[in-house]
Amino acid sequence: MRVFSMAGTLLAVFLALVCLQQQHVANGAECHGKPDPNAKPNLNPIYTEAPVLVRSVKNAKLYTVGGGNDTISLVHLYGTPYEMGYAHGILMKENATQFINDVWGYLEDQVESAINGTIHNLQPWFLKLVADFGLDVALDLTTDATRPFTGEYFYEEMHGMADATGLSFKKIERIHMIGELTKGACSMYGAWGNATRSTNKTLQLRALDWDIDGPFRNFPQITVYHPVNTTYGHAFANIGWTGWIGSITGMNSKQMAISEIGVAFPDSTFGKESRFGIPFTYILRDILQFDSSLTAALHRITTANRTCDLILGVGDGNMKAFRGIQYSASVANFYTDTDNMPVADWHPRIQDVVYYGMDWLCPGYSQVLAAQLQKHHGNITPQNTIEEITAITQTGDLHLAVYDLTDTILYVANARRDGVDGPVKAYDRPFVRIDMKPVFALSQ
Ligand SMILES: *[C@@H]1O[C@H](CO)[C@@H](O)[C@H](O)[C@H]1NC(C)=O
Ligand SMILES: *[C@@H]1O[C@H](CO)[C@@H](O)[C@H](O)[C@H]1NC(C)=O
Ligand SMILES: *[C@@H]1O[C@H](CO)[C@@H](O)[C@H](O)[C@H]1NC(C)=O
Ligand SMILES: *[C@@H]1O[C@H](CO)[C@@H](O)[C@H](O)[C@H]1NC(C)=O
Ligand SMILES: *[C@@H]1O[C@H](CO)[C@@H](O)[C@H](O)[C@H]1NC(C)=O
Ligand SMILES: *[C@@H]1O[C@H](CO)[C@@H](O)[C@H](O)[C@H]1NC(C)=O
Ligand SMILES: *[C@@H]1O[C@H](CO)[C@@H](O)[C@H](O)[C@H]1NC(C)=O
Repeated sequence: MRVFSMAGTLLAVFLALVCLQQQHVANGAECHGKPDPNAKPNLNPIYTEAPVLVRSVKNAKLYTVGGGNDTISLVHLYGTPYEMGYAHGILMKENATQFINDVWGYLEDQVESAINGTIHNLQPWFLKLVADFGLDVALDLTTDATRPFTGEYFYEEMHGMADATGLSFKKIERIHMIGELTKGACSMYGAWGNATRSTNKTLQLRALDWDIDGPFRNFPQITVYHPVNTTYGHAFANIGWTGWIGSITGMNSKQMAISEIGVAFPDSTFGKESRFGIPFTYILRDILQFDSSLTAALHRITTANRTCDLILGVGDGNMKAFRGIQYSASVANFYTDTDNMPVADWHPRIQDVVYYGMDWLCPGYSQVLAAQLQKHHGNITPQNTIEEITAITQTGDLHLAVYDLTDTILYVANARRDGVDGPVKAYDRPFVRIDMKPVFALSQ
């Protein structure tokens, strides 16, 4: 059923629906999950070998990092947005095609599960659109609602990937809406100053808790963009999947990094959500690609047309600072250690640390994360973050990144892919350490 040309006229209907259903439900609800009190530390050795070159094509190079069953593709892209998308599509043709088709299939399965009444992770507003108009139109309404707020270079890159892979532009565009459409829980911290006194570093955590049964676990990739000139920003790395161009996890060559948490349990201070604005995976990428300081990133967030309820985290190793950001269509509040919200016995303020465990109102995870941060306070390092903080909090099932923003070093782990053994969750698996300075500096 192709009713795609109707999308424009349906926007008005969509707008009416959105306005009706974006009021928050009564407050007081909070998440009920908590980590297993018998969670074990992650004592796996960390892979530290330098990246290994596999192959190269015009404007792109494939390396691998890690090893054994925890090998991650490290892809360098050079040129204009179109050239980078095209090179990505040529270099990784088979896996990019499979990933994009698998995400499409995953969306269809999620809708079917919702209709069948089985477990799914789609947002209620999106399901309502799907019920009324079908999946194709629901996706087109979503892309239409975000297009005016999206940088043209996203579409140029998608056109390059479409031309290289033979996939339709439309499909590539649609699957990139998935962040807005699904629910995820996640955790983060920023730690500096006295929290890391023994090393004097600025550290940041991004733990992604999403669907480990979806296609994502099989396509881990770090995509390093080297834009042709400053019109397209500076070098940055997306930690995600082959064929994926939005940002969910990443760092840049300006000592900055991002974290993100989907909020399912907000309080009234979040105000309203909207579907008309920049998808969060795109604003996070704009921060990595174009911003050189925390100040610039906060300005970008303040002035953006924002969409859904989130907590974002942005760290800056140069400023030795981090902010947790309470984010929705109506608010953008920036928190540091002294004014961090919410305040509760399960979410104590900790000097030189900002942190969130799984959600805004999530006592079970937040208090375990707080206890771990307090236990290591004064000596928080990437090593004890990996060994204890995330493994005991049991956060980061799909992937997680620990960023050393002082020395531009990335530690990353992924969920178990198909056909291999060992622990299922990323926080229990071996991490890979990558010195990102030579990675960002690598010339074509
Ligand atoms: C492509 O995906 C397959 C299946 O997941 C995997 O075995 C292979 O290593 C991937 N290739 C690259 C270059 O990432
Ligand atoms: C939904 O139900 C149909 C019919 O019973 C079944 O064939 C299908 O596998 C189910 N799909 C999911 C995702 O559960
Ligand atoms: C950090 O710790 C040192 C030593 O305990 C203390 O002297 C200093 O005041 C602390 N810094 C801040 C900003 O509180
Ligand atoms: C830590 O960094 C601060 C700010 O750059 C600097 O003033 C201080 O001397 C450093 N402390 C140590 C112990 O290296
Ligand atoms: C960057 O490259 C693009 C494409 O070649 C060009 O249009 C643009 O003017 C360039 N910008 C700068 C600052 O050189
Ligand atoms: C985008 O944000 C601006 C400034 O806040 C606002 O005036 C405008 O109405 C917003 N656009 C939409 C479509 O919400
Ligand atoms: C990877 O998984 C395979 C299949 O389960 C297993 O035989 C192998 O020992 C694993 N390799 C490593 C390095 O753990």
